[in-house]
Amino acid sequence: MANVRAAITGINVFTPDYVLTNKELEKMVDTSDEWIMTRTGIRERRILKGEGLGTSDMGAEAVKGLLKKTNTSPDEIDLLICATATPDMKFPATANIISDKAGIKNAYSFDIMAACSGFLYSFDTASKLIESGRYKKVIVVGADKMSSIVDYTDRTTCVLFGDAAGAILLEPTTENIGYQDSILQSDGSGAQFLHLKAGGSVKPASHETVDAKEHFIYQEGQAVFKFAVTKMADVSVAIMEKNGLTADDVAWLVPHQANLRIIDATARRMGLSKDKVMINIEKYGNTTNATIPLCLAEWENQLHKGDNIIMAAFGGGFTWGAIYFKWAYDSK
Ligand code: ACO
Repeated sequence: MANVRAAITGINVFTPDYVLTNKELEKMVDTSDEWIMTRTGIRERRILKGEGLGTSDMGAEAVKGLLKKTNTSPDEIDLLICATATPDMKFPATANIISDKAGIKNAYSFDIMAACSGFLYSFDTASKLIESGRYKKVIVVGADKMSSIVDYTDRTTCVLFGDAAGAILLEPTTENIGYQDSILQSDGSGAQFLHLKAGGSVKPASHETVDAKEHFIYQEGQAVFKFAVTKMADVSVAIMEKNGLTADDVAWLVPHQANLRIIDATARRMGLSKDKVMINIEKYGNTTNATIPLCLAEWENQLHKGDNIIMAAFGGGFTWGAIYFKWAYDSK
């Protein structure tokens, strides 16, 4: 039997309308456009406004558009995986809610929580399930309403994050395109540097936890930066070496967009020129699980069948990894 691989056959994203600029943040906390731009590369980010709207609403919009764009009936979908760090609720899975909102009735669905590496973990899991031969049409959604866990009085975190969702359709192919290889890793000892203090089983929500602002992101930025800059570059170089790829062989790097300095360091270590790196952090900030699909969608029209693409991420956990895949279609 021919080797079955998982190929991306469509992509669609949703970004909220509201644009939160550095200028507006200057009025909210003691910061400056100059500091944010030089330290992070972010100029603006999108925020989901509106009572009762959550991650699933953005995810469902991305999925509905994806089904339309790929001419796929919701009934054909076998599985939907949602990568999110900001689920609608602790349970049920946001993936279940997205499926319901998008009219997907014949699938099972579940969430994957790996902070900023969640989209890669989910892509890997979905690809392996497709390779098993059992599933034919699988959707992976990366979606986060980061504004729901950001303290807008904390200048060290509120400038970094934004809201968005992206969705891809994966299907089997016997051609040598699509998913090729991955290296995924995690190290729970990094949890101390980046976490949400309360609301879990160790420290359930109480008046005290709300008063102490423990339902917002806690991050020791410098410590996380040190790990991120090393691990994301290491794993990206490692996947190239493992697959015998030189910088000339790589058409695109799709890096998680947490900080422009981390992206630049990764590209440098891989020997890639800047024109091969997808970067849109300036417009969206760190949208956690949505950064990689946001890039793929923005560059979709420039991609060609067979292009060698490396996606790389680092996030809370710590989690990190890289996936090597070949683009499956000429978009134009
Ligand atoms: N405006 C102005 N000054 C600021 C701001 C701000 N928004 N934020 C911090 N500062 C100040 C600090 O208070 C500090 O002042 P001090 O020297 O008087 O104490 C100074 O700037 C330097 O602060 P650092 O934290 O050392 O700044 P750094 O250069 O490390 O940049 C940043 C901070 C952007 C957070 C960086 O550390 C970073 O990108 N870290 C990694 C983030 C990441 O990759 N996270 C993982 C993914 S997220 C996830 O998984 C959910």
